[in-house]
Amino acid sequence: MLKRTLPGLMGLVAAIALSGSSMTASAADSKTVEVMHWWTSGGEAKALTVLKDGLKTRGYTWKDAPIAGGGGEAARTVLKARVASDNPPDAIQMLGFTIPEYAGQGYLANLDSLAAKDGWDKVVPAPIQRFSKYQGHWVAVPVDIHRTNWIWANKKIFDQLHLTPPQTFDQLVADAAVIRKAGYIPLAHGGQPWQEATLFDSAVMSAGGPKFYTQALVNLDPTALGSKTMEKAFDQMRALRGMVDPNFPGRDWNLATSMVINGKAAMQIMGDWAKGEFVNAGKKPDVDYLCFQYPGTQGDFIFNTDQFATFKKGDATLPGEDAFAETVMDKADQAKFNQIKGSIPARLDVPSDGFDACGQKSMADLRSALKNGTMVGSFAHGHAMPDGPKNAVYDVVTHFFNSNQSSADAVKQLVDAVNEAK
Ligand code: GAL
Repeated sequence: MLKRTLPGLMGLVAAIALSGSSMTASAADSKTVEVMHWWTSGGEAKALTVLKDGLKTRGYTWKDAPIAGGGGEAARTVLKARVASDNPPDAIQMLGFTIPEYAGQGYLANLDSLAAKDGWDKVVPAPIQRFSKYQGHWVAVPVDIHRTNWIWANKKIFDQLHLTPPQTFDQLVADAAVIRKAGYIPLAHGGQPWQEATLFDSAVMSAGGPKFYTQALVNLDPTALGSKTMEKAFDQMRALRGMVDPNFPGRDWNLATSMVINGKAAMQIMGDWAKGEFVNAGKKPDVDYLCFQYPGTQGDFIFNTDQFATFKKGDATLPGEDAFAETVMDKADQAKFNQIKGSIPARLDVPSDGFDACGQKSMADLRSALKNGTMVGSFAHGHAMPDGPKNAVYDVVTHFFNSNQSSADAVKQLVDAVNEAK
């Protein structure tokens, strides 16, 4: 009996000691907010300092928990593991459908009182609120509006070859041939599924326009997915594949951006976090580089918004978590952050002065897309469809890009994959 009780007692003592130490740790930590994110490139890390400083002025320390990997897949995997072991970070960067996924399981703190105090309902565009709110309650704060249908071009190469931004896809193909002949790589690309998916955002929009994009990638309508228009989107992907260099597999997106900055490659198709790399390298739009829309998507706005959610700790939201959400939504900080990050503010009440020509263009296009109802969520970045079908479409797109599959076969596979994943 004694023999059995003793280890039990010792266990209890150990447990008390442990809980004591964890109490001390959490008391010490109550002035600290642990933030998980995937912003590890030069431009991203620089933009992040704005938020870190903002939190500091509110009396809290930012405990950094970066998980490298553009697009955030690695971070999402680590988050799952940490939540499963009951050790989530205090706050985490999240995209699109990941937010309702966690909110639906009751993990995210309710931010309604802060939202009401600062009037978030009035300043955040509705297509973004759709993800920030769960069942009518604010559970995430949006810091930026990125756009995926951009091309970033090296101005020196364009000038040397007398090229101007192509207005049609056929023109892009013709320009790429001229660039290749002159000894440059036409398209800097990183062969990772999310980067191929980012090209696909633009190809689908260019082939069919915003209505088709929505039918296919948001409504997952089998007729749109299996259409001739979708075949055209895959034809564009095939043509883009012909524009890259042989070393593209596995390359990180920011290394592809460097190829354009350094004049090895002429263009990159990428969300405007790529602009953050140009900014970080001291480069100026219309002097060192050009920004324009993927041909056939001029005026269209495919958005990807980074939001931060805070995890519930018991019933109450910790004061540090409130301070964190306030920092993310701070008007002046959103201006500073987005000028470095390459994006535009998630708040519509931030003035456009201080933004460069690419940023001002994005702001103007956003306003008309909002008016026309053509601001659509990025498939590649989790704003068009939930994770299940998204991963299935990723597989189809990446397989196509890295094989000799025909567009007609890819379209058939796409319909089947979405059907199974729905
Ligand atoms: C996206 C994120 C962007 C950008 C990019 C590359 O998922 O929304 O902010 O940083 O990844 O890391």
